[in-house]
Amino acid sequence: MSSIIEIEHLKKSFGDNPVLKDISMNVNKGEVVTIIGASGSGKSTFLRCINLLETPTDGKIMYLGENVLAPGYNLPKYRTHLGMVFQSFNLFNNMNVLQNCMSGQVTVLGRKEEEARKVALENLEKVGMARFIDAKPAQLSGGQKQRVAIARALSMNPEVMLFDEPTSALDPEMVGDVLQIMKKLAGSGLTMVIVTHEMAFAKEVSDRVIFMDKGVIAEQGTPEDIFVHPKEARTKEFLHRVLHPEP
Ligand SMILES: Nc1ncnc2c1ncn2[C@@H]1O[C@H](COP(=O)(O)OP(=O)(O)O)[C@@H](O)[C@H]1O
Ligand SMILES: [Mg+2]
Repeated sequence: MSSIIEIEHLKKSFGDNPVLKDISMNVNKGEVVTIIGASGSGKSTFLRCINLLETPTDGKIMYLGENVLAPGYNLPKYRTHLGMVFQSFNLFNNMNVLQNCMSGQVTVLGRKEEEARKVALENLEKVGMARFIDAKPAQLSGGQKQRVAIARALSMNPEVMLFDEPTSALDPEMVGDVLQIMKKLAGSGLTMVIVTHEMAFAKEVSDRVIFMDKGVIAEQGTPEDIFVHPKEARTKEFLHRVLHPEP
């Protein structure tokens, strides 16, 4: 398999707080990688470093073999290759659903309105939101907003989609719909990096599971390796805690 992204010795500190401590990993084309770990272990910071919403303190991020942190690298272009879906949707509240899915295509990719509309509609269809093109985000449920956010990110035709706990802010009855769509995307060959608390989902869709603990990758492997035969004590302890919560 060929790597799309290779991360080498990535470090990130906020002031004197070292949040990411020497992380190396790669993402292969078509691969679904999930990242699990306790709150505060650095999962969001790691995703935000991958798409440079945060600037790493040290280390390399290679995209198709080129270091994106090297002087002169075209960062705006790099960012267009990565789609991001946030826990809190981050839709443009003053725009309707269709405009949300079109605006980046026009302003960032320079697509014509007509093409942008076509691509937006295709992706809204994929997530079951084509009927809602005229709605404003405030008129939608959390699950519907997240489906629009996914369609918006897909409309940019990214090489890799990054998801940061896309179902954590949803009412329980909405979680299934969003996970179903993500499963479909995973099955379609899209390259995905997903931070999630949904262990059953992670077990089912992942090619590889990464367990992060206190700013390092403590263990990684297949879903079977991590969920059935974890090696590290801290992986076992974390899984026990999330799969058998105290009443
Ligand atoms: N912008 C920031 N400024 C200062 N500290 C931050 C910032 N973002 C995250 N942190 C700190 O980094 C640590 C890891 O946070 P985060 O990456 O959000 O973890 P997770 O997503 O695993 O819950 C936390 O201690 C958090 O307070
Ligand atoms: Mg987080």
